[in-house]
Amino acid sequence: MPTKEQEKKNYYAASIVSKRLSSKSSLRLIVSNNTHNQSSYYFSINNRRYLGNKYKLNEFIRNTIEKECGYFETFADLFAGTGSVASLFQDKRLIVNDILYSNYVCHQTWFGIEKYSKNKIESYIKRYNNLSVKSENYMSKNFADTFFSKTNCKKIGFIRNDIEENFNNGNINFREKCILITSLLYAMDKIANTCGHYDAYRRNGELDRELILGIPSIQANNSKNELYNEDINNLVKFVSADVIYLDPPYNSRQYCDAYHLLENIARWEKPEVYGVAKKMDRTSLKSNYCTNNATQAFEDLIENIKAKYIVLSYNNMANKGNDRSNAKLSDDNIMRILKAKGKVKVFSQDYKAFSTGKSNIAENAERLFICQCC
Ligand SMILES: C[S@@+](CC[C@H](N)C(=O)[O-])C[C@H]1O[C@@H](n2cnc3c(N)ncnc32)[C@H](O)[C@@H]1O
Repeated sequence: MPTKEQEKKNYYAASIVSKRLSSKSSLRLIVSNNTHNQSSYYFSINNRRYLGNKYKLNEFIRNTIEKECGYFETFADLFAGTGSVASLFQDKRLIVNDILYSNYVCHQTWFGIEKYSKNKIESYIKRYNNLSVKSENYMSKNFADTFFSKTNCKKIGFIRNDIEENFNNGNINFREKCILITSLLYAMDKIANTCGHYDAYRRNGELDRELILGIPSIQANNSKNELYNEDINNLVKFVSADVIYLDPPYNSRQYCDAYHLLENIARWEKPEVYGVAKKMDRTSLKSNYCTNNATQAFEDLIENIKAKYIVLSYNNMANKGNDRSNAKLSDDNIMRILKAKGKVKVFSQDYKAFSTGKSNIAENAERLFICQCC
């Protein structure tokens, strides 16, 4: 198992190799072999771009929770996204959930309890990294030269089909399938011709970077972890935990729109896609928390939660940015709803906001609301 420092070096080395490979094809074999002989590269849970991910706030979140909630055994991260907050408490029993299947697949990799063969994963990844795919497939027919080059689309489609076939034939188990898909999703994220999400791709952007899959650095997990792919308002009716962490979307930007392509790959149902960004139908994946029903949904959620502590991340963007970036829950409503459940304290840390440049917000504050339930 590599150290964190080594892992970081391998990750960046692989990105550089990937860039070089595309511009100097004569180096392809030599550099490529060299990389794979170093057992490819390792990546960790946070080596991924994701809107609203809490990686940079991890220390603030962990310290505040540890100080305020004392000793606890079960931690639930129920709008988990990448799972970066759940990963702070990997010594606990975890309950992890997200409405997107692409996130659930990654949670199976990082927090799953099914046994998997590391050797098998390594040999699949080595094979995938040495592929040259000529034939067309769902990916190349629908996405060529948009978010990825045609060559990369052929490779992505081939790999995803191969994972599915091997799972259906019983050659890999569900966790191994998820690990291979996770490796593919993280590798796609590194070279996607986007600014981090799939609402749009860059015209005249860089398409020639090579797709190189890495091996996830997976830690030991509590054998009683539970992972779900549910709407949170349904889920809280049948789970409970000592500490439940909530990090809902803040604004009208739907995650299923931003990550439709990763969701499409993870599900692999090969739906029809439409529009410039080639999105599939996402009706069943829309979140109430991005709409004007957010307050009602939040009230229902808090009423039904069974926990000793509820920890909520929410920034202070209400009515400060443009319409799209305005927060859907007001502070007054958050406080009213949480206070009906118990004693509330608020902690904050200044944090640079994600901004497309359209709203003129340079900085905002990320807050943690901690409610000790009665
Ligand atoms: C702000 S992000 C969470 C980021 C996460 N804390 C991290 O560090 O990566 C909100 C997440 O909530 C998920 N989500 C939105 N509505 C949901 C719902 N009704 N039930 C479950 N998950 C939902 C989205 O898919 C998204 O991944």
